[in-house]
Amino acid sequence: MEIRGRTAIVTGSAGGIGRATAVMLAARGAADIRLVDVKEDALAETARLVADTGARVTTHILDLSDIAAVETWFQAHGDVDILHNNAGVVSGLPQFPDVDAARLRWIIDVNVTSLVAATQVAVQAMRKRGGGVIVNTVSTVALGTGFYDAMYATTKAAVMMFTRCCAPLKDECNVRVAGMLPGLVDTPILDTTGAGGKSEWMKTVLANNEACTPEDIAGGVVALIEDDSLAGGDWLAVRRLDGKIEYQWGHADTI
Ligand SMILES: NC(=O)c1ccc[n+]([C@@H]2O[C@H](COP(=O)([O-])OP(=O)(O)OC[C@H]3O[C@@H](n4cnc5c(N)ncnc54)[C@H](O)[C@@H]3O)[C@@H](O)[C@H]2O)c1
Repeated sequence: MEIRGRTAIVTGSAGGIGRATAVMLAARGAADIRLVDVKEDALAETARLVADTGARVTTHILDLSDIAAVETWFQAHGDVDILHNNAGVVSGLPQFPDVDAARLRWIIDVNVTSLVAATQVAVQAMRKRGGGVIVNTVSTVALGTGFYDAMYATTKAAVMMFTRCCAPLKDECNVRVAGMLPGLVDTPILDTTGAGGKSEWMKTVLANNEACTPEDIAGGVVALIEDDSLAGGDWLAVRRLDGKIEYQWGHADTI
């Protein structure tokens, strides 16, 4: 899909990958970008960066763990060409099996339930407008790399499977659903793995791996949106090795 002139929603766009994607979509000529997050000040800063490119931009404070609110918001604002379901959370501490039931439900709701609910409403709107592209931010943990946070890996594997299961929507109603699988990226989420900062396991991961920049990942999201030769249910993993970006493409029937 050509991005110029399109409308888009980016969730989790107060920083990191979501901010980089919103700014890149705007730079590619998107006409109207709706930014969703819970962090008001940081979201306003993303809006300022997007507005600098001349795109129309609006900010929306929406807690994606509130599924009824997600459905209501998407029914009111979800009629767009492009949806980047990007917001996500890690478990923090304590992890499974010591995590309590409310927190278990929270990570599943933010990472999976809200993403499915948002996709459902957006697909219904895209059907009516003749098509669209949805990119879900997954993670390379869904390929079986890294099991430090059981609930995070489990939710990302669920999003991967959901993305692949959406492949038939391409033929049914011209809605292409794709997965972006970032490797390690230096963003604020890393500081939420421990109590008040990075966990010991995250420090080990950072010491042993090269981190991507949010822009590396945004570039992959844009590639997924623009490539209309893709069949649906496709995914793109992005990592950095020896200072270079490495891409791994996969399709609905590959894992
Ligand atoms: N950073 C990495 O190494 C990495 C690797 C693989 C996948 N990812 C995924 O990339 C996505 C973006 O994360 P990031 O790395 O840019 O980190 P980030 O923390 O900068 O971005 C996540 C955003 O989601 C928002 N968010 C969290 N809970 C929310 C809620 N309940 N309602 C609305 N917004 C909420 C946060 O406020 C934040 O702005 C996430 O899905 C994450 O799981 C990140």
